Amino acid sequence: MTGTLRAIDLHKSYRRGREQVHALRGVSIDVQPGEVVALLGRSGSGKTTLLNCLLGWERPDRGAVEVPGTAVPAEAPWSTVAVVPQRFGLLDELTLADNVALPARLAGLPDPRAAAIETLEVLRLGHLVDRTPDEVSLGEQQRTAIARALVVGPRFLVADEPTGRLDEDLSIHVLTTLREVYAAAGTGVLIASHDPVVVAASDRVVRLGDGLVEG
Ligand SMILES: Nc1ncnc2c1ncn2[C@@H]1O[C@H](COP(=O)(O)OP(=O)(O)OP(=O)(O)O)[C@@H](O)[C@H]1O
Ligand SMILES: [Mg+2]
Repeated sequence: MTGTLRAIDLHKSYRRGREQVHALRGVSIDVQPGEVVALLGRSGSGKTTLLNCLLGWERPDRGAVEVPGTAVPAEAPWSTVAVVPQRFGLLDELTLADNVALPARLAGLPDPRAAAIETLEVLRLGHLVDRTPDEVSLGEQQRTAIARALVVGPRFLVADEPTGRLDEDLSIHVLTTLREVYAAAGTGVLIASHDPVVVAASDRVVRLGDGLVEG
């Protein structure tokens, strides 16, 4: 299957008391299958807002989002668009293995636990699969969130600063895995980041400034 993940001319404002914040002022972006796109921009430039609109988590005031095979972006299954949220969003009650197995279960994979453990091992977390998130470090939680996104082999991966808690070696390992395992198999990857490792490993850079694409 082919298809592009696309945002077209997105506008989004937030009201803060009497102040109006224009987070997105006409942003278009597309991600092709198999490419790694880095979304750069200083803090507050609109990166998370753009990702949230692409995911259907927030509604743009104007503009459109196209998700292949899905009429309503917010209803896209994890296997179409998987997410690494900026704050991870792991379930505290579940072990790392069960957190990662969840989307595999929902996608109907034959052995969700085995798929989860395999993906956690790829992210060098095989020794921690039976711990809960509060029993591991923030970097380990972050890689668990990455594993949870990748476990179904999604068509697109949208990741919000997914290396923010990782050291350089681990960042390189994660990006190499994303490129050589997942993008090589056709996953289109969009990563909001400030990390030079992400920029170096991406096919293309899109820079946001003040709610607009720069350059
Ligand atoms: N729910 C909200 N209510 C009001 N203002 C908001 C809200 N969410 C974001 N903003 C504002 O919109 C702008 C864009 O925020 P956004 O979170 O998209 O930035 P970002 O590029 O992801 O920043 P960071 O690199 O710090 O994560 C900022 O000025 C922010 O303060
Ligand atoms: Mg952000």
